Amino acid sequence: MDKPKVVLGVSGGIAAYKACELLRRLTESGHDVRVVPTGAALHFVGAATWSALSGNPVSTEVWSDVHEVPHVRIGQHADLVVVAPATADMLAKAAHGLADDLLTNTLLTARCPVVFAPAMHTEMWEHPATQENVATLRRRGAVVIEPAVGRLTGVDTGKGRLPDPDEIFEICRRVLARGAAAEPDLAGRHVVVSAGGTREPLDPVRYLGNRSSGKQGYALARIAAARGARVTLIEANTGMPDPAGVDVVHVGTAVQLREAVLKAAADADAVVMAAAVADFRPATYAEGKIKKKDGQEPAPIVLVRNPDVLAEISAERARPEQVIVGFAAETDDVLANGREKLRRKGCDLLVVNEVGERKTFGSEENEAVVLAADGAETPVPYGPKEALAETVWDLVAPRLRASDTTDSDTSG
Ligand code: CTP
Repeated sequence: MDKPKVVLGVSGGIAAYKACELLRRLTESGHDVRVVPTGAALHFVGAATWSALSGNPVSTEVWSDVHEVPHVRIGQHADLVVVAPATADMLAKAAHGLADDLLTNTLLTARCPVVFAPAMHTEMWEHPATQENVATLRRRGAVVIEPAVGRLTGVDTGKGRLPDPDEIFEICRRVLARGAAAEPDLAGRHVVVSAGGTREPLDPVRYLGNRSSGKQGYALARIAAARGARVTLIEANTGMPDPAGVDVVHVGTAVQLREAVLKAAADADAVVMAAAVADFRPATYAEGKIKKKDGQEPAPIVLVRNPDVLAEISAERARPEQVIVGFAAETDDVLANGREKLRRKGCDLLVVNEVGERKTFGSEENEAVVLAADGAETPVPYGPKEALAETVWDLVAPRLRASDTTDSDTSG
């Protein structure tokens, strides 16, 4: 079988050196990579490096090998185009269809999925011109990864770093796996995913917590990004690095998680509550460490109920057409308990995990049944958490499209 053909576009930012690592990951995993840098990119990394690492010729403009019509052919034959780093200038050109070099011509002729990994200073990323260009590209179906937050060139810190090359590689792999025909069916959508487990503090050194690893929530966030969504991940105590291409909000307790979810859900198309939220918290918090006293039994811990975030956002939807997904872990009467919980929580879909011997918190795999409010049941066999994440979005995406139709029906 032919190797998948990937075009790696590199535009002129200091993060171009990180694209060398992405190139290595792509070639070592069996992809035929053609690097198309811009002229400015060559100020940062030279053509010899791109050519040696890819094993393919490298040029920046349309005037080399004209008999092969490279400005059309490279884009037409690609299975994936990934632009990393994508500068503000490159995003602007791509959004407006300018074609003044080989990379911008390639973007116009490509009919395969396109991924942009932007990198720039925070001010440039936040500028309304850039944000509108990003929105345009996403609306057309391109996957634009959110930049990472951290150290930028010089002394600045903020949003605008190129995500880790491994993370960009993972997104490329998933986009390629979905195939050319697969629409990025969450393009233009904002989705919110909660992940991990809340911790309810007792005193400065102790808390009540749970064993949720957050892996299922991270898989949901990553897959949604690869399917084109803008993703906000509300993360509670996972200890995992932020996944590329998503906005991450870090929280600790159930109350903080509620606040972050309500804020992010205000303009969200879908909310998936994969976090294990503590149902109770200690009634009081001791400002100092609770000390043991000789000859005395410890005082009992009094608990109070936490808000039920899933039930609350389902009952008071920020937008009537919002799709809300909950998770539930059950040991017995899985389907009957799941149905009852779906009704009680008022969400649209409930992913019911059967908790058993093999199926523990923290594992890489999962098995579930997704129950829908309309009565449908979708079993998901034992397998990677990514597969379950794909199924969840497979069920969410048509519900979003259905609500689009309803909207246009009512407005027309
Ligand atoms: N959830 C929530 N707020 C809470 C508790 C749970 O939003 N205070 C959400 C979780 O994120 C998950 C679902 O509700 O999506 C799980 O509901 P829960 O009733 O806690 O289910 P189980 O833990 O399976 O619990 P139980 O059998 O104790 O009812």
